[in-house]
Order: sequence, then C-alpha cells, then structure tokens
Amino acid sequence: MSILKVCRLGHPVLRLQAQRLSKEGLASLAIQTLIDNMMQTMVEYSGVGLAAPQVHESLSIAVIESHGLRGEIPMTVLVNPDLTILDEELMEDWEGCLSVPDFRGRVPRHQKLRVDAWDRYGNKIQFVAEDFFARVVQHEFDHLMGRVYLDRMRDLSTLAHLAEFQRYWLPERKEGSTS
Ligand code: NI
Repeated sequence: MSILKVCRLGHPVLRLQAQRLSKEGLASLAIQTLIDNMMQTMVEYSGVGLAAPQVHESLSIAVIESHGLRGEIPMTVLVNPDLTILDEELMEDWEGCLSVPDFRGRVPRHQKLRVDAWDRYGNKIQFVAEDFFARVVQHEFDHLMGRVYLDRMRDLSTLAHLAEFQRYWLPERKEGSTS
C-alpha cells in the first residue's frame, strides 16, 4: 500500500463531479488498490474521511473512519453513494478538510440521512447515518459533487486558522476533525 498525495483547494479535480464506477471497473486491481491506498492515506493524515478526488482521482469513492471523541465510525467504503435527507433541520458544527489544510469552519449539515451505495465489492449497502456520521458522509459526498465545506458555510467569519481555532474555540469542542 502507498500513502497518496492529497491535493489542496485550487486543484481543478476538486471541482469536478466524480465519475460513477461500473461493477467491472470497481473490481479491477487498479481501483481496489486505490481504495486500499485511500484508507492508508486517511489514517496517515488523521482524517475521518477521504474522497477519491482529493487524491487526484475523479471517481465516486469515499472512505470514512473515526475513533475520535466526536463519534465512533468503523472503516466504511462508499462507492457511488446517493443520499436521502431524513431530517431537514440543519445544525452547525466545526469541520476541517485535508484539502484545506490548517483551517476549521462552522458548517450547517443535516442530522439524519439515508445512504445508498456499494461497498468495495459492489454489494449494495444501505444505512441511516446520524449526527457526526451524517456530517462526515455529507462532507465526503460534497467532494464527489465538486464541492468543499467552505461552499456550505453561512458565515465565513467563523473560518479559523488551526492555531487560533485551538486557542479560542477548541474548549467548546474537544477536537476539530478533518476530512
Ligand atoms: Ni474534505
């Protein structure tokens, strides 16, 4: 496995709508290796999620895992995900992104949604995600649609450099996760 280079805001691939995969494409060695490398890269950079466009591949694949204080999420691979919002209400909380290094901002997200996707083997999966898990899923889904969390912020005045975030805002939240 390899640790992949993560592209940052401004790279055009982050603004493309990612291509959905066929069963055959997903089963290929190249894509299975990409998924392994995405998992390793996410862990290496302490992210809670990583989408394929962040590693220069405009493909509809995301990986998610969290063992932090904000929520326990087992390693999850989402291929060609579709989201159905189950709670229209939006809640703001802090987010970061490996493609927007050293910043945190408050982002409104839905608290409950249904995910329909494939796992890495092309099996259909469906589950309901709530709270922090729902937040991370929406963040990664946005990457697959060519969006970043900054696009979702209602008020850019909350955008904080990590050092200032840790100094002024961290006490209200034990960590600021990145994905
Ligand atoms: Ni991100």
